[in-house]
Amino acid sequence: MNTSFYVLTDTHYFETSLGCSGEAYEYYMQTEQMCLKENQEICRAVFEEIAKDKETNIVIMPGDLSKDGEYESHVSLIKDLRKLKEAGKEIYVLTARHDFNDTPHCYQGAEKPTIKGTKREELPELYAEFGYNQAIAVDEISLSYVAEIAPKLRLLAINSDGTAEKKGYIDERLYTWLKEQIDKAKTDGCKVIAMNHYPIIPQAPIFELIGDAKIKEYKKVAAFLADNGVKYIFTGHMHGQSVKPFISDTGNMMYDIQTSALVGFPAKYRKVTFNDGACHIESFRINAFSDEYMKAQFNQMIPNRLKKMLKAEGDDAKFINKFLYKKLNSLNVGTLCRLLWIIPDKSIKKIKIMDFACNLVMQVFAGTQDYNPDTAVYKTVVKIFKRLGFVMKKLNKKLSKPENPVDLPNLILNSLYNTTGIDNNNCILE
Ligand SMILES: [Fe+2]
Ligand SMILES: [Fe+2]
Repeated sequence: MNTSFYVLTDTHYFETSLGCSGEAYEYYMQTEQMCLKENQEICRAVFEEIAKDKETNIVIMPGDLSKDGEYESHVSLIKDLRKLKEAGKEIYVLTARHDFNDTPHCYQGAEKPTIKGTKREELPELYAEFGYNQAIAVDEISLSYVAEIAPKLRLLAINSDGTAEKKGYIDERLYTWLKEQIDKAKTDGCKVIAMNHYPIIPQAPIFELIGDAKIKEYKKVAAFLADNGVKYIFTGHMHGQSVKPFISDTGNMMYDIQTSALVGFPAKYRKVTFNDGACHIESFRINAFSDEYMKAQFNQMIPNRLKKMLKAEGDDAKFINKFLYKKLNSLNVGTLCRLLWIIPDKSIKKIKIMDFACNLVMQVFAGTQDYNPDTAVYKTVVKIFKRLGFVMKKLNKKLSKPENPVDLPNLILNSLYNTTGIDNNNCILE
């Protein structure tokens, strides 16, 4: 088998003529990771680059196609996808929870007017030519489908939207349908790969603690895939770059290859090639937009979110929060360490705490996970945790469940560097 395809996800496509300027827009963008007014241009630039590649004619898109389910965004994206199709590409999409919404909005001046939304039931018809028409089986309830994307290679497009209460969930009925499809593929002599919007394996250990960062009961889903011979699943949703292995109790292996949002730092898309039994993964970023521009958008998101979180009621609270934010914003690693009676490495003393924290988050999303145990950053974080041992113990107790004890310092430390040894951006999986 020698097949290749592109993976683009979380395009969060937005029809810019709907309105994305003014005060309301500027305010919203303070806490947003993704570029919005540049979104359409970014998507089109990537589609053009893919269209030029005559070697690869398959594109898969595991969900969050539109910004927030604006009907006009879907219409425009479909027009752009049709152009890509005309350039010879076969496109297979999944829809996800940002693709349907009754009350999406745009930004005009100081206002956020509500605009026409999209119902979940409308999506299979809207995107019929991008997967559903090519499907050899469709599960009408979950909107999952199977398509033979290349000779003897089937794509299991798993839609795990779940319910309003249980997002990102595979129920027993869907498991039965998926198993039937995998068995049928085996009988027909086909290999099966899968895509799903939600990540199957947390992109970093700390994401174990965030409910929406992976599919519900993720170990059960991973074991199901591994034990049924589905070795590769392509996911999105968390907007980060990650390649994570999983071994089931019976010793079967699978990989979750999560790709970042196309329109926000690190803004990557992937090309995957199956060649001589190995899976080659390459990641690209768009040439049309500078990395620095997107990084700046990402970087301002964390302090601004914190600022908005600290926006409490009452004049006293406002004053204290303002003071706290100002202090936090001006504090550097050296001062914090001095307060905790710790000696940090000289090289990081002058870095502002806010920049330090942003950097730690950023390297997880970029999939670079830069800080191994030999680095000054790692050593300093270890010292801080040691000094705050009492607080950490309390936090561990608060976060632990009887069946799932939590060791917060370890989860954070193991998220600072790549513990799997597999490069999250470019790698070969044998
Ligand atoms: Fe998303
Ligand atoms: Fe999502």
